[in-house]
Amino acid sequence: MTEQDIRKGLVGVVADVTAISKVNPETNSLLYRGYPVQELAATQPVDAVAHLLWHGELPTGDQLAEQRRRARPHRALPPELREAIDRMPVDAHPMDEVRTAVSVLGALDTAGAASVLEAVGTPERNRERSLRLFAVLPAVVAYGQRRRRGLEIIEPRDDLDDAANFLWMTFGEEPDPVVVDAFNRSLILYAEHSFNASTFTARVIASTLSDLYSAVVGAIGALKGPLHGGANEAVMHVFDEIGDAATVEAWLDRALAEKRKIMGFGHRVYKRGDSRVPTMKAALDALVAHYDRPDVAELYDALEREFTGRKGIYPNLDYPSGPAYNLMGFDTVTFTPLFVAARVVGWTAHIMEQYAANALIRPLSAYDGPAERHVDGYVADE
Ligand code: SDX
Repeated sequence: MTEQDIRKGLVGVVADVTAISKVNPETNSLLYRGYPVQELAATQPVDAVAHLLWHGELPTGDQLAEQRRRARPHRALPPELREAIDRMPVDAHPMDEVRTAVSVLGALDTAGAASVLEAVGTPERNRERSLRLFAVLPAVVAYGQRRRRGLEIIEPRDDLDDAANFLWMTFGEEPDPVVVDAFNRSLILYAEHSFNASTFTARVIASTLSDLYSAVVGAIGALKGPLHGGANEAVMHVFDEIGDAATVEAWLDRALAEKRKIMGFGHRVYKRGDSRVPTMKAALDALVAHYDRPDVAELYDALEREFTGRKGIYPNLDYPSGPAYNLMGFDTVTFTPLFVAARVVGWTAHIMEQYAANALIRPLSAYDGPAERHVDGYVADE
């Protein structure tokens, strides 16, 4: 094996084929089962896009109604889940709370399985599990934020669609249509993105025929990192650090001198801008107008102009999402759990695709440790 055969970080490596989404850096485009994501974000409720990603087609009216009939009972937080969350320190990171919730759900759902192989379940069982996680995670995330604020839980409302119900359970107010539309768009944009680090993690775990919950728990661990999903939270910390547009230049001078990664910028696949940013930026602009916060737009534009101008590194989806979630009223620590509640659709679609492929993922490694040697020359107490 030669040095050039080794592809650190799997940069540029095509590891498998997927029919779920296509990320095309040449055309700066993203297709979900063939549909441009910006069209879906502008026209569909997030659960219709979930149907598309899981089943390969947008739902008919009857199919969407049936999916909602099966999902609605799982929108409320089950008592066992609430007890598990209540046992966690109130200042535990919400990503740890979400990870615990999925672990508990998995333990309850697979309890009694005669073997690990039986726990994996059938394709129909995993489609149900996927829908249930999509339905319940908003309740986990909403309750987490309210618990940290010392507020009581709010039960779901079946008269609201998923984005509106998520906002209702978090804030307890009739959600404004402008905010619902911006939030729905963000959930669709965050839902899927081919073999990103957390999705590939889920596929590796599913490839061993471990159960769907274990694969989602692994994906949550990967998404938590600030180089991946944790970036949307980190963008807000950057905005808080800078304060306002007038201090961007000085802040950036210091940050680059300290060789810091500027959160919300750069991407492993897109090198001239993330295809999802224009749609999420339009949603942010609508929120800036709705809440009359031109200062947010000024800071956003100043940092992008300054950093992209100097380094030619473009914003990724986390850059507009951070300030958008802040304007909606989500706590900064809640941002990445929001990403989980959306990306659980992509993760579960890939997990089910990996099960169908039935192929263990196990790459090779090169070795640069000591040459072979033997213990007969070694004595511990000399
Ligand atoms: C997501 O893969 C996906 O699809 C992920 C995602 C999804 O939907 O699942 O799109 C979600 O994770 C988006 C990315 C969120 N992360 C961040 O915003 C964190 C900041 N970004 C960087 O850490 C970085 O851009 C990465 C990790 C996202 C991508 O890095 P790469 O492709 O490995 O590129 P690199 O780190 O090798 O960077 C190349 C050069 C380096 O400079 P040199 O060492 O060659 O001098 O560009 C520099 C980097 O230092 N660089 C940055 C930078 N991004 C790249 N310098 C400062 N700030 C940055 N943000």
